[in-house]
Amino acid sequence: MSGAGAEKSLTGEAFMHMIKLKVNGHVQELGVKSHQTLLEVLRGPLELTGVKEGCGLGECGACTVLMDGKPVNSCLVLALEADGSEILTIEGLAQVGKLHYVQKAFVKEGAIQCGFCTPGMVMATVGLLQENPNSSQEEIKEGLRGNLCRCTGYVKIIKAVEAAVEMMREGEQT
Ligand code: FES
Ligand code: FES
Repeated sequence: MSGAGAEKSLTGEAFMHMIKLKVNGHVQELGVKSHQTLLEVLRGPLELTGVKEGCGLGECGACTVLMDGKPVNSCLVLALEADGSEILTIEGLAQVGKLHYVQKAFVKEGAIQCGFCTPGMVMATVGLLQENPNSSQEEIKEGLRGNLCRCTGYVKIIKAVEAAVEMMREGEQT
């Protein structure tokens, strides 16, 4: 944590702590309560509702974002713990209206049904492929183990991630 300072809230009922985050390339300074999670801050004051709340317990992966380049369950990270870090959410992935290649692969393979798990699944995939661009099918399954999908049966999701690996190999990731 870097330089979180404590201040009283407007109502004086609870202490607020000022934190600074870089979210999707923009610096954000905001007051948070000690118990607030990163997920609550992203979906609340920052209005990034692409980040989904499923279980709220670290079990479904719907809330996955990248924190300093690594996938995290944002429901398990206190906003205070995220102070000073760089956060990437699904909203920051497409560049100038152009889908990220992982998003393209999900669309191409029809790996989306209701779409609730998709933002978390895509962010977990981006993190996985940054770490291991040549992930095998087994490594993909292992890497996405913490992300649950109630609709697709996972087959198309695995295919989409394999397609993304192929796109990277062929240099089609832009
Ligand atoms: S909402 Fe965070 S893991 Fe389920
Ligand atoms: S597409 Fe519905 S939960 Fe995954």
